[in-house]
Amino acid sequence: MEARGPAHLLIGETKMLPNLSFLIFSILFVASNAAVQDFCVANLKGPDTPSGYACKDPAKVTTDDFVFKGLAKAGNTSNIIKAAVTPAFVEQFPGVNGLGISAARLDLAPRGVVPMHTHPGATEYLVVVQGKITAGFISSANKVYVKTLNKGDSMIFPTGLLHFQLSATGVTSVALVFFSSASPGLQITDFALFGNDLPTPLVAETTFLDPKTIKTLKGVLGGTG
Ligand SMILES: *[C@@H]1O[C@H](CO)[C@@H](O)[C@H](O)[C@H]1NC(C)=O
Repeated sequence: MEARGPAHLLIGETKMLPNLSFLIFSILFVASNAAVQDFCVANLKGPDTPSGYACKDPAKVTTDDFVFKGLAKAGNTSNIIKAAVTPAFVEQFPGVNGLGISAARLDLAPRGVVPMHTHPGATEYLVVVQGKITAGFISSANKVYVKTLNKGDSMIFPTGLLHFQLSATGVTSVALVFFSSASPGLQITDFALFGNDLPTPLVAETTFLDPKTIKTLKGVLGGTG
């Protein structure tokens, strides 16, 4: 016990010195650098980069830069998927720039669907605020995780994995989704396969689908070739 006592004190002292100097350094730093960057509201006139947009002049930033009202209104679901996705990504809500967060509103008419898609840059957190939604994702190991969610239920969709949301028959559903990025990105599988000019023979060879079906889907989704 006696042998350990002084050793303990010594360790205590050497540990304390860096802590103390860190504290002093922190105080000096805060005092000498009042312009710690709290936020970086996007200047959308410049280019988007891997680290986000350049910052709007902080002197010109107002409360309204941190407020977004675009999710209050239901999206128009009169379309082929009977669904609408209203984004609050950095392009719509410049205040989220650089903060690693964004959101969207999903409106789903009865049997409306957000088709199989991925967000290459973000994990998604979904909260059902109205109705009943069947949602699921498929892992890299090709395992399916699917659940029917009621109002108030949440589900997460890990970064980059294919997932979907589908409203129950006869039920209008609304969900809020949150993303771990200001620019989650969106790639819809059906549009990637049938909504562009990738030639039908190549689509057929790479998907094992027959050319007639591919032509039909290209017609529906606006693809050519
Ligand atoms: C919804 O979209 C459809 C199809 O584009 C359009 O005909 C209709 O007027 C829109 N409804 C509203 C309320 O904007």
